[in-house]
Formats: sequence, structure tokens, C-alpha cells
Amino acid sequence: MKTLLNPEYIQGKDFPILNQCVNGQPLVYLDNAATTQKPRKVVESLTRFYETINSNIHRGVHHLSQEATAAYEDARSYISDFMDAGSGYNIVFTRGTTESVNLVASSFSNFLSPSDNVIVSVSDHHSTFVPWQQACLRTGAGFNVAFLLPDGSLDLEQLYGLLRKCHAKILVLPHVSNVIGKRNPVKEIISEAHKYGTAVLVDGAQAIAHFPVSVKDLDADFYCWSGHKAYGPTGIGVLCAKTAWLEKLPPYQFGGEMIEDVSIEKTTFGALPFKFEAGTPPFAEAVALKVALQYIKGIGFGQIEQHEKDLTRYTYHQLGEIPGLKIYGSEEERDDLISFNIEGAYHYDVGVLLDQMGIAVRTGHHCAQPLMRFLGVPGTVRCSFALYNRQHDADRLVEAVRKAAKMLL
Ligand code: ALA
Repeated sequence: MKTLLNPEYIQGKDFPILNQCVNGQPLVYLDNAATTQKPRKVVESLTRFYETINSNIHRGVHHLSQEATAAYEDARSYISDFMDAGSGYNIVFTRGTTESVNLVASSFSNFLSPSDNVIVSVSDHHSTFVPWQQACLRTGAGFNVAFLLPDGSLDLEQLYGLLRKCHAKILVLPHVSNVIGKRNPVKEIISEAHKYGTAVLVDGAQAIAHFPVSVKDLDADFYCWSGHKAYGPTGIGVLCAKTAWLEKLPPYQFGGEMIEDVSIEKTTFGALPFKFEAGTPPFAEAVALKVALQYIKGIGFGQIEQHEKDLTRYTYHQLGEIPGLKIYGSEEERDDLISFNIEGAYHYDVGVLLDQMGIAVRTGHHCAQPLMRFLGVPGTVRCSFALYNRQHDADRLVEAVRKAAKMLL
């Protein structure tokens, strides 16, 4: 496996958490789809913020408040550039992908009635699936599901048939499935959906840290992601949406900062994006998130994408040689994660044994029970890669899975 990235060096220099032993073995961290580790610079950014300019934003005339406000707004504008959002889009800070999707589903449901339709994908994470399912139950709108082909890719023929038939108001799908790991052709899908007047919300939680995303090029109506899966802190996420949509949608939460004027009789709401940012936002986290994205840019998506793809392909083939091991989804269009089961063994038991050998993977339904039902399994074992993982990590995983298979079968 060739790589220009030097993960060995990166682990030692930037990610102290990775230089430890777990259960007496050097840690191999392969649960990056759940959360990535944070580079030292991100941790330092949080400390620096609290030690130098901490103050509530948009509220004070005093120096610290102005500094903090400037840093927060600078982070917003950096994120807009990072996503190539351009002037037709707005960046709203949220707590994470879950809150971003809930915001849109809750506000958008004001426009849904029993004669309308929504389309989701069976591979949607619960944070994307459930808010829209509940919005449909509340409003009586039709809830339609796009399914997968046996290779794990979206069944585009069925999806396009649904779009033609029901002219849905909105289509919701992941850019990369958090279980199958396949990248959906969202640009092509969005262009097809727009022919029928269907808006598209993309869950980019498993995409944003792994390859460049241009919302403008995709022409996505809504694009959501979480800071903590992109080497940033927890408690912060992004909703990038077309300004035209955000102007139409009513506020999601009410409180300080999102108002223009409040009287006993009525309230008028603030301008975008503040209309959607009620209360004290995660300002220290926003600043640290910018540092995380700068870190990604410093290494470069060209190298990150190639490195993670090579590592995933290598692991896919090595795992594939283990007798009785089933991988979900084919190799094509796969980004940076692999879900599998050892036939005859329970996924949870495999995870426990791997942990005893110092290897962190995720087991379970991965917050994607509709997909588990579709696959006919209660759960899987999932390994997911980040820029700091090495071929040595993949070799340790494969060796440990072989041992686990021997112990369990
Ligand atoms: N959504 C995260 C995952 O897939 C938590 O693990």
C-alpha cells in the first residue's frame, strides 16, 4: 500500500490519545465514524479561547465580547469557504447533524400536508430517518423509502421511480452511509430530484472530513454535518442551506439572539442566520472547529482521500480472506469504513474480543435499524478509518478478527 501521508508521524506528533495501551496492547482506534480524535491544535484552541477571549458573543460592547464575536463569525465564514457554499447559502451553527436535521424537519413540516410526500433512504441514520418519519406522522404526509441494491448501493431506478410518481417535497439521504460506507452519487440524484421540484437534504456526517464537498456544485438544498466527526469538538454542527429556503422556514427554537423585536403582543425574528441560533451558541467550539478544518486543509484532501481509500481497500481484501466473514456492500464507491460479521458469531462478542486485543471498533445497529432489518441482521462490526490510521492498524485488526473467529466458532 503506497501512501504519501505519514500517519506514524501524525499519530506521534498530533494525537497524543493514540499513543497509549488499552488492555495491555497498543491502541488501534478504528471507530472514527462515531467520532474522530482531536489534533493537539484543536485542544489548544479551546484552552486558548477560554484563557484569552472567552465572553458571550453578539451581546457586549466590551473588548472580550467583540473579540469572541469576531472569532465566531470568522469561523462561520471559513466554514462557508470550506464547503464552497458561496453567496446563495447560509451557515447555521447547531449542536450536530442530529440538531441540523431536526431543525429542517421541524420547520419544513409547516409546509407538509396529507397530499405531500417525503422520501428517505433505508440507509439513513436514525438522526435523519426518525425526524422525517415523525414529521410525516404529524402532518399526514406520505413517507416513502428508497432501498439498496444487493451490492449496497442506492437503487437509483427505484428512487427515480419514486420521484416521478410522488413529486416529493423533500428527499433525504446520506452522502456516505455510516454502515455500508458507499458514497452516493448525490450530485446526479439532486439534479434528478430538482426536475420534480423536490428539495434535497444531504446528511454529510460521514463525508465532510474525508473528501472535498462543494454544496454549490452539488446544488444541495440542505447539507448537515457534525464537528466531532471532522477532528473538531463535540457540541457543534453545521447546517448549510440555501438562503432562499432559510428565509421561507420558520424558526426552530425561540429565545435570545434570534429575535428582532419582542413585545407583549408579538415577536419579530432576526436576520439569517441568527433566526435559527436561539440562545448562547457553541462559540468556543466554532473557533476550534475552524482549527480542525485548517488541520484537514493543511494535510490536503488529495492525500487524505487517497490514503483512506487505499487503507479501506487493503482492509477489505484482507478481511475478505477470512473464512466465514461477510462484508456488507461491494468494494466499489466505498470510502472509509467497512461493516462485517463473522458468520455464526454475535457482533457484540467480536467487539469485546477485539477490545481485549486493544482494537476499538463499533458494534451494534449503528443507529440504522431500518438498514439492519433490510440486511436481515441485528447488527454488525464496523471499522472506520481516519487520516492517522496506518496499514499496521489494518493488519492488527485483521489478525485480531482471525483470532476472534477461532475463539468464537
Ligand atoms: N453516527 C455515529 C456512528 O455512525 C455515532 O457511529
